[in-house]
Amino acid sequence: MTIERAMEAVEKQMFEVVNSDVTVLRDASRHILQAGGKRVRPRLLMLAYAACGGQDTDYAAPVAAAVELVHTASVVHDDINDHGVVRRGRPSVNAIWGRTFALLAGDYLFTKVYELMAPYRDLNVILAEATVALVEGETLQASAVKENNFSRQVYYDIIARKTAALFKAAGKLGAKLAGASDETAEALGQYGYNLGLAFQIIDDVLDLTADTEKLGKTAGLDVAQGRGFAVAYATNGQPGVGVAVVDEAPADPMAAIRQKVLRGDAVDEAYHQAQKLSALAVASLSSLPDSPQKEALVELAYTMVKRDH
Ligand code: IPE
Ligand code: IPE
Ligand code: MG
Ligand code: MG
Repeated sequence: MTIERAMEAVEKQMFEVVNSDVTVLRDASRHILQAGGKRVRPRLLMLAYAACGGQDTDYAAPVAAAVELVHTASVVHDDINDHGVVRRGRPSVNAIWGRTFALLAGDYLFTKVYELMAPYRDLNVILAEATVALVEGETLQASAVKENNFSRQVYYDIIARKTAALFKAAGKLGAKLAGASDETAEALGQYGYNLGLAFQIIDDVLDLTADTEKLGKTAGLDVAQGRGFAVAYATNGQPGVGVAVVDEAPADPMAAIRQKVLRGDAVDEAYHQAQKLSALAVASLSSLPDSPQKEALVELAYTMVKRDH
């Protein structure tokens, strides 16, 4: 199995399943899928599958497609909540079709996951738990913003649920599909979990340091909306703390936090944390036999923290 061939099978599955005769659902779903994206979660799943000895790409591909559809649905809904107008280098679904149809297109993508996962019996539970965690993470984040208590601890709880849980499921599902032992499935789950944390921390740094064109999605939303690594680091959940230490604080407190973070060591700290987590991810692979796919997982962990978009 080559990973390229496996990823083609995943693409095919996703496009085949998104086939509603209700034009707006089909068009909006295809719009977001055709825009691409890194496809890191299905890649992780397929590499985990192969690293555990799995060889039947067509058997694992629908599950990888389901994982990517959960993620895609979550970003369609996320852009409604975050007022994101650019996603994957294109206008977001809400920017083109409006909030109502974006909500429904996200529902449609989530619902298609049932169809893809139907033959996989108890693996459904793993994906369902990760999806619940994702919703909980997004909800805890909105609550923390509302209640102004975006501390570092709250931040880690949020990203563990909204991002790391699905990466963990991808690793675990890949291993289980290959018939790996519970211990090996746990190890690949742990790999995914730590990589997911690192991935989200880097995403938050890029939100602060990169621009919309480079990212292909609306930049600067985290600080503007009072959340993310920078806000947690600068305020530790105590509003005003981040602002007080900035000379000539601008009228906008969030701009003050952004300034503080960019002048201080939060970005370095974020990279440091992400590197530590990615090394932990790699360490979880130690019991796997050597293979090109294991190497690709190691490489994935390192490239994801070095990325600039
Ligand atoms: C964006 O995920 C949301 C986060 C969890 C940071 P990705 O960065 O994987 O988005 P795409 O799929 O490549 O667009
Ligand atoms: C995206 O979260 C959705 C999930 C992780 C569930 P973010 O709001 O942090 O990501 P971007 O920056 O919009 O991609
Ligand atoms: Mg969000
Ligand atoms: Mg967002």
